[in-house]
Amino acid sequence: MGKYREDPAALEGLVEADRVHRDVYTDPEVFQLEMERLWSRAWIYVGHASQVPKPGDYITLDIAAKPVIMVRQTDGGIRLLMNRCAHKGTKVVGDAAGNAGKTFRCPYHAWTYRLDGSLAMIPLKEGYAGTRLEATGLAPIKNTEVYRGFVFAQFSDRGMGFREYFGDSLSSIDFLADRSPEGELEITGGCLRYLHNCNWKMFVENLNDTMHPMIAHASSAGTAKRLWDGKPADLPKPMAVEQFVPFVSGYQFFDEMGVRVYPHGHGFSGVHFSIHSSYSPIKDYESAMNSAYGPERAKQILGTVRHNTVYYPSLTIKGAIQSIRVVRPLAVDRTLIESWTFRLKGAPDSLLQRTVMYNRVINSPMSVVGHDDLHCYRSIQEGLAAHGNEWVNLQRNFQPGEGEQLSKAGELTANGTSDISMRNQFRAWGEFMRPE
Ligand code: FES
Ligand SMILES: [Fe+2]
Repeated sequence: MGKYREDPAALEGLVEADRVHRDVYTDPEVFQLEMERLWSRAWIYVGHASQVPKPGDYITLDIAAKPVIMVRQTDGGIRLLMNRCAHKGTKVVGDAAGNAGKTFRCPYHAWTYRLDGSLAMIPLKEGYAGTRLEATGLAPIKNTEVYRGFVFAQFSDRGMGFREYFGDSLSSIDFLADRSPEGELEITGGCLRYLHNCNWKMFVENLNDTMHPMIAHASSAGTAKRLWDGKPADLPKPMAVEQFVPFVSGYQFFDEMGVRVYPHGHGFSGVHFSIHSSYSPIKDYESAMNSAYGPERAKQILGTVRHNTVYYPSLTIKGAIQSIRVVRPLAVDRTLIESWTFRLKGAPDSLLQRTVMYNRVINSPMSVVGHDDLHCYRSIQEGLAAHGNEWVNLQRNFQPGEGEQLSKAGELTANGTSDISMRNQFRAWGEFMRPE
């Protein structure tokens, strides 16, 4: 037991409408409660259906500090199972991905399970005759939803439904999937895993923090810009320069970009345009889109270039560049960030090249831009140990009554440099952290 578990008012008091107490980022008990409450009641991104195309294909991962298997069934469906042997608790699957064939076999005493999790075989089963054998198999996670290939799970039976939880924010997934002339995505190019020594919320908040790029990325993107400035206008711009330079756009650019929030913590920046708006056209792509959707709808899809969409708390997507970053909290000050790239079915390969390039130069552990952000997060994690100021400021463009307005309207749009998306995330945090 700890003070926040025992005292709900103290926990609630950590979040105010325009500021949050530093304990939300640093207190291990708060982290534990987040796993039990927020990360169990919210809909959490698990993986993409294209990672398990054939029956028996699986991936494993931890959600809310619990081990999970996502596996393709023989009937084509996708199931989520707890990766916990019914015998003595061993994780039945050790690999991150693979194909199980028809069954999973526990590596300890060979209890064996079908792909749906039901028990298929126990060695020397007669020995259990007359006992209280409660071998129910691998426990399924009942609340699962596959939306345009994105697989989500919710651990708690008392959380809200999938559609109610995400609402109109799902439009960002639609605009991403519709960038494929066939309307389908395929994960490709592997995963870049980047360990962050910071609380998971710092990363999620940063995605729509548009007051930082021109400052924090001046040394990386700013250097690329300086090197390119003054080059002859007819010199083709290297793809990496095209991706770096918009990061150091001015305040006005980011302010005019706009930010939109939805109930339950979701939102995106880049309502009107974004740092992805001025990329060079990709040969043959527009014509493929025009034939697939007709010119009007194709123009709408390609003209929607949202910056980052946050599906609170676990998934962040960049539709315009076909990549996602997934948040996997490990401890109060340790977070794994996974970056995945998509191939758009029916689109030219050069689009995938652009996606992979972006992921490498901006998001990966080898990138220069990602390091700028991580440096700041680590510095916050250390800085918050200071005394004398217990609060973290979320006050930019704050107006009282914001929460009520949002509940009434279903969405709110603000100037791009507002802290509204962070306040919105913490409203959801407060909502999901209440004791049952
Ligand atoms: S723990 Fe799995 S078979 Fe014994
Ligand atoms: Fe950044």
